[in-house]
Amino acid sequence: MKNTAQALLTEYQLGDLKLNNRVVMAPMTRARATNAGLVPTALMARYYAQRASAGLIVSEGTWVSAKAIGFINVPGIYTREQIEGWKLVTKAVHDKGGLIFSQLGHIGSASHPDFFDGELPAGPSPINPQTHSFTPEGFKETLTPRELTAAEIKQTVQDFKQAAKNAREAGFDGVEVHAQAGMLIPQFLSMATNQRTDAYGGSIENRARIVFEILDAIIEVWDSTRVAIKFTPVAISHVGIVKPDEETIPLFQYILKKLSDYNLAYLHIVGPAEDLAGTPVAALQHNYFSHFRHHYRGRLMANMGFTHESGNAILEEGTADLVSFGTPFIANPDLVERFKYNLPLSAANRDTYYAGNENGYADYPAAVLPDYKMADRS
Ligand SMILES: Cc1cc2nc3c(=O)[nH]c(=O)nc-3n(C[C@H](O)[C@H](O)[C@H](O)COP(=O)(O)O)c2cc1C
Repeated sequence: MKNTAQALLTEYQLGDLKLNNRVVMAPMTRARATNAGLVPTALMARYYAQRASAGLIVSEGTWVSAKAIGFINVPGIYTREQIEGWKLVTKAVHDKGGLIFSQLGHIGSASHPDFFDGELPAGPSPINPQTHSFTPEGFKETLTPRELTAAEIKQTVQDFKQAAKNAREAGFDGVEVHAQAGMLIPQFLSMATNQRTDAYGGSIENRARIVFEILDAIIEVWDSTRVAIKFTPVAISHVGIVKPDEETIPLFQYILKKLSDYNLAYLHIVGPAEDLAGTPVAALQHNYFSHFRHHYRGRLMANMGFTHESGNAILEEGTADLVSFGTPFIANPDLVERFKYNLPLSAANRDTYYAGNENGYADYPAAVLPDYKMADRS
């Protein structure tokens, strides 16, 4: 039955942007920038345009510089050609009435010398993150990285700022800083990968410093209400040694308290993908998003395993303002319409998440129109 009252489908005012609904497409690396310049393509523009009925799209994680790379065929936003390529994407989404943020990322030590002519990647400390890098020759184990110098950290902050400027020029509606586990920022936050003795290591304040330096730099080129950040405070699997520790809860309380004064577009928080019992963050097992709601004064976007029902529920109870959906958007370009008409969701093929060109990417059909009409009549 058609349900127009559901919370996911209500409009939302995000600063000066009006979102048509609260269904956000979460950032997803799809590795389709299959060209030497890592330039976004017309195929990518088609894929994003197909999903433009989302209240907001967050682009796949996008490299802020050539030093940020660590996964094949992921686009960048640091060259003229890349900016021009992104213009195709933002125009295609805007032409369909959608909005799109650029997700700005740096993978730090979770990369591989194959991306740097044999040179080691750099991270906060010379500590192997013990994860994998998807290189042109397949998944390879990470190595012990080089330690970033203080000057390189300053340059990295500037790279985020320049990338944010480029995103503006490319027609994006805002930017989201990619601080998801596995990336450079969490490598700074984690005691396991950050053993620096300068202003970027040691105390919670020092380890979190880079978060605020990056946001402060970006806010010089975008209004804060167009700037967001995505964290996975409790990622446990597939991220090597960057895992929750005894300081994770106070660390995020510190970050959230400070971020509360930033008036950001939103704080994007990924929930637990597995049982937290027995981990240093077991206290977050229940009422996870309420914890972040309580500690953060600003718009909260919730993510991880949400469904039509649980997405409506978290909005209705007031624990989040927006809900992002990742995997459901892969095989359901018309996810919003499927929610609107209570249509079943299609399942995605995992084999084409990170490869396959158009196959398993831009060839998932919308539910056929007669289905919508039938649903309207019922
Ligand atoms: C294929 C794939 C690629 C992803 N790439 C990114 C990425 O580039 N940046 C990011 O922050 N999260 C990335 N994620 C995580 C999603 O944004 C999201 O947090 C996760 O899929 C959980 O949401 P879901 O349960 O609705 O899928 C990716 C997820 C998938 C499935």
